[in-house]
Order: sequence, then C-alpha cells, then structure tokens
Amino acid sequence: MERLKRGTDLSWHREDRVATKTEVIAGAKDRDALLCTILDRVDAELLDACPGLKVVANFGVGFNNIDVAAAIARKIPVTNTPGVLTDATADMTFALLLAVARRVGEGERIVRARKWSGWEPLQLLGVDVSGATLGIIGFGRIGQAVARRAQAFGMRVIYWKRSAESETSDIHATRVGFEEVLRQADFVSLHVAYNSETHHLLGESQFELMKPSAFVINTARGAVIDEAALVRALQTKRIAGAALDVFEHEPQLTQGLAELENVVLAPHLGSATIGTRTKMGMIAVDNLLAVCAGRHPPNCVNPEVFG
Ligand code: DGY
Repeated sequence: MERLKRGTDLSWHREDRVATKTEVIAGAKDRDALLCTILDRVDAELLDACPGLKVVANFGVGFNNIDVAAAIARKIPVTNTPGVLTDATADMTFALLLAVARRVGEGERIVRARKWSGWEPLQLLGVDVSGATLGIIGFGRIGQAVARRAQAFGMRVIYWKRSAESETSDIHATRVGFEEVLRQADFVSLHVAYNSETHHLLGESQFELMKPSAFVINTARGAVIDEAALVRALQTKRIAGAALDVFEHEPQLTQGLAELENVVLAPHLGSATIGTRTKMGMIAVDNLLAVCAGRHPPNCVNPEVFG
C-alpha cells in the first residue's frame, strides 16, 4: 500500500471483505490499473465497464477469477504472483495431511467441548503417514515442494502431471498414469491449476477407483473436486477422509460437508503467512507499476498482449 501510495493515485476498497462486482467497477471505472484478489471476478463486463484499464494485477498465483481471453481481446496484461507461495502452500498441504491422518480436528473438538476424560488405548486411532503412498496430481512448483516434504516424512511418492510441467531430479518420485495415482495412493493431493480441463477432475468415478482407506487433500481450487460427489463418497465411506483448504462454492460449503467428522476444513489459508502474503503483495505491486511505467511486467500470464 505504501509503495502504491507513493507511485500512483491510489484508491482502494477499504473494508476487509471481498468487494462486490458493482463496488469493483465503481472503484476502477476511471482507473489505469486494477490490483484484485483471487475472489474478484474480472470478466468482459467488468473490463468493458473500466475502459481505461492497462493492467490487471492479481494478488495470487491462481488466476481462474480472471477471464484471460477477454483481457487478451482488449490487449490488457494480466499478472500473478508465482513462486513466493510455493513453500507456504506445501506446508499447508502437509498440515492438512497430518491433521486428517491423525484426526487432529476431531480430537480438538473433543478437548474444546470438555468431553475428554483422559488417555485411552483405542481413542481416535489414525493412520501412519510414514511408509504411506502419497499421490500428487499436478507436479508443478507446489506439487514438487509437497513431494520434497513427503520424502522427509518417509512416504513413497507417485505423481501424475500434464507433460507441460517441468520437474527436477532431486525428488524421488515415480510418474504414473492419472488413474494409477488414484488406485495406489493412500493420500491423493491436488496441485493443478483450475480451468475447464481440471473442472471436477475428481468425481464419483474417480472416488470409485480409490482405496476405501484413502484420503483426499485439496489446496488447489475447490472446483477441481465435484464437492457433492465427495460428500457422498465420505458419507458412504467410499473413501476414508478429506482435508480441504478450498471449496467449490467458496466460501459456501456443500451441504453435508461440515457435518462429517472425517474431514478437516480450513478457510483457504494456503498462502496465509505474514511473510508470504507480503511477498505476494510486493510482486503484485511490481507487476502493476511496471505496466504503469511502460515496461513489461515480470509475471504476465498473457504475454501475447505485447506481441
Ligand atoms: C493463490 O494465490 O492462488 C492462492 O490460492 C491464494 O492463497
């Protein structure tokens, strides 16, 4: 904010909540640049209502909230914040994985409700993470960072990725087919970008392939999972549990999800550390100011607009 105040004529949404589209348009209609959050829907209607926009700088790495084709058609660069949230998101993935494996949420609810009467030999028995197989769907920066952590936990790692994603050789992980990940994994963790190809990548037929003892972890985007199908799979014990940081209709929860004991639910905290969010903000500002100064932004997701 300080950098933007120094470098621009800044106005901002002053409430700590997601702005409505009408509010975003009212604030940005006569502006050169928009710095938005991952929940602000930037579509053709908004871009047409803000004809002066020369850049849309997203405060986040995922940019499925922005209609990039509409931005390309209007020659507006869209930027994101890759790299800086890799470790924080991988840490959150592991926090969720451990929490669901070791039933931390269930235990916390019992203790907080003053219903705990003391140690019992068979109370809240979870599953071992060490020696288990982690199946990673999507092997970009975050997927690989999760794999590195899994190695330290003594897990076997298998993964599926689209061929476009690069990989590094320091990770002991085996690439297998998509369905093979689902069949073999004790924990399936999602690390794909959300788009039309990954919409409902996990649904009823995919849960059918998984072991009944398996868990799903999602720190990517909610709609990568068909959440209604997930609730059914959990209710019928088709799979053992899920740990979710993102939701299909965020911040709303699909009916039945919150009532399940075998799920851990977090409010989209993947990148939520002071250090990481600060870096994300600085990168978003770098991108925005670069365009305002007539330079190419460092993290442009639609570089063709400069062609
Ligand atoms: C992102 O940057 O896409 C994350 O989901 C925000 O935490």
